[in-house]
Amino acid sequence: MSKEHKLSPVHVNHQVTWSGFYKKSLRERQTQLKLVFPQVFTSSTPSSVFSSVYVTPDTSPCSSPISVDFSSKTNDQNTPSHSVLNNNNEINYLINKLETLETLSNKKLFPINGLDENIADNMIENCIGTIGLPVGLALNFIINGKPIIIPMAIEEPSVIAGVSGSAKTISAYNGFKATTTERNTIVAQVCLLDISQENMDFAVEKIMQNKSEIIKTANKYCDNMVKRGGGVFDINARIISRKANRNRKHYPINSDNFTEWLVVHITIDVCNAMGANCASTVAEGVAPFLAELTGGRIGLRIVSNLNVERMSKASFRIPLHMLAYKSLSGKEVAARIIEAYEWAEVDPYRATTHNKGIMNGIDAVALATGQDWRAIEAAAHAWACNGVRTDSDNFQSNGSYGSLTTYWIEKDEQLATSGKPDDECLMFCGELELPITVGTAGGVLKTNQVYTYNLGIMGNPNAQELAMSMVCIGLAQNFAALRALATEGIQRGHMSLHAKNVAIAAGCPANAVTSIAQRMIEKGKITLSSAKNFIEIYMNEQADIGKNLLSNSLKIEDKLEKVCDNLTTLSSQVQCHIN
Ligand code: MEV
Repeated sequence: MSKEHKLSPVHVNHQVTWSGFYKKSLRERQTQLKLVFPQVFTSSTPSSVFSSVYVTPDTSPCSSPISVDFSSKTNDQNTPSHSVLNNNNEINYLINKLETLETLSNKKLFPINGLDENIADNMIENCIGTIGLPVGLALNFIINGKPIIIPMAIEEPSVIAGVSGSAKTISAYNGFKATTTERNTIVAQVCLLDISQENMDFAVEKIMQNKSEIIKTANKYCDNMVKRGGGVFDINARIISRKANRNRKHYPINSDNFTEWLVVHITIDVCNAMGANCASTVAEGVAPFLAELTGGRIGLRIVSNLNVERMSKASFRIPLHMLAYKSLSGKEVAARIIEAYEWAEVDPYRATTHNKGIMNGIDAVALATGQDWRAIEAAAHAWACNGVRTDSDNFQSNGSYGSLTTYWIEKDEQLATSGKPDDECLMFCGELELPITVGTAGGVLKTNQVYTYNLGIMGNPNAQELAMSMVCIGLAQNFAALRALATEGIQRGHMSLHAKNVAIAAGCPANAVTSIAQRMIEKGKITLSSAKNFIEIYMNEQADIGKNLLSNSLKIEDKLEKVCDNLTTLSSQVQCHIN
């Protein structure tokens, strides 16, 4: 085993803490969460329990606070005496203890209830209520050497299992490497119209000559960002050629001869915010000054959701043999995954599905942490167009749509020089890079307490750390999907999980969902009608069990009555004897 395979004690503790999490009941998982993250779930925590259990604070925001210290004095002699929560028995012991307390006090400890209706009513127009989604935890992630738990909100089964599974493989080696751009920026666009081709260069020059004056004016519209150390710091001008209207039915109502658009980009450092509102405010505020400088007419002034200056990248590198699956060697699986990736590079029909999977992961984290997932989606798909990716100075080239991820095989030179056979020196590598615009500060995050919990579980990351986790999740999803698709296919695993959803859709009572799903899987028939059949059978069985119980209890009652009668007779006989 190479040195890289050895996990540090913190990784081992982390793995032990979360091992078997998926086998626990929902309530047990919630209780474990409260135990592992008491500082996140403080409001309804009974102090009698947590006075003896506290999390060792970790200053790194991207790490998971998993070490629970029992060292402070406690009166409870049953409390385990170890200094870290590194044993599953200890976790289960505490889970039981908390659950008993919950039952005794008749109080629910876990307040993940989603958005309050009254807040929702103030957030959008014509509000009629709220909608819930399952929130789950992606496990086994080690990013830049630190373990992290990542919450995901998603209705689709298999995604959380998929990312956790591939993260397990990747983290068993070196984990994920993630990088992101140094500044947390956003771009505002101002479109200036009615500038003739002869005047266009002059207009661009005017913008560039007056950069510092424009920045000064623009910063008046984001003084809060400036106070926090951010604000507008760059201005660029782009000339975009106009095209004929694509819709052939169009009837032109203005007869201008202008062939180009002048688009000014205003780059703003938005600190830890997502920044879209800030960008649009700046664009509207500074537009009159830009029009005055260039002689152009003000067109649209709005944020750009394609933010190529806010890139995040995730990558991993594992030995080929780690990909071995059933009768397939690691080399065979690697070759199949590479083929799958290469197909997605050249076929937009496949690339759309391939990238949809990546967004299964990224959107789910975005939803769980209160991000504008539509902006993230739009940017990702724009980035998937080769024209945008390869020619960042000229966004107009008509590149085809391809894979967001890349995979390749490389030779580990160090291993090669150590005299190992060629196959043992081969490494399978994956990478995902895309623009992700997220924020961990800002009004919308306060609307739903679940966002606060979820960000807390992640160790309260800043915007860049959140973006890095999201891009790792995206890569983990794609690796999981390609690995499954290239070997046994995804339907077996997917349908098993899907079976539960089918059972629910067929009206299955909550306590019977697992059993009905299991029966459908065993029969290999996961359909609504088969679920309904099994539910009927199950209900009949339950009714029979009920009847049996009733008749048994009647029989017992009968027997008891007889025993009582006998006792009465006996006692009267005894009485007679005494008399
Ligand atoms: C399903 O939601 C996502 C996949 O189709 C992605 C893929 O095909 O790569 C499994």
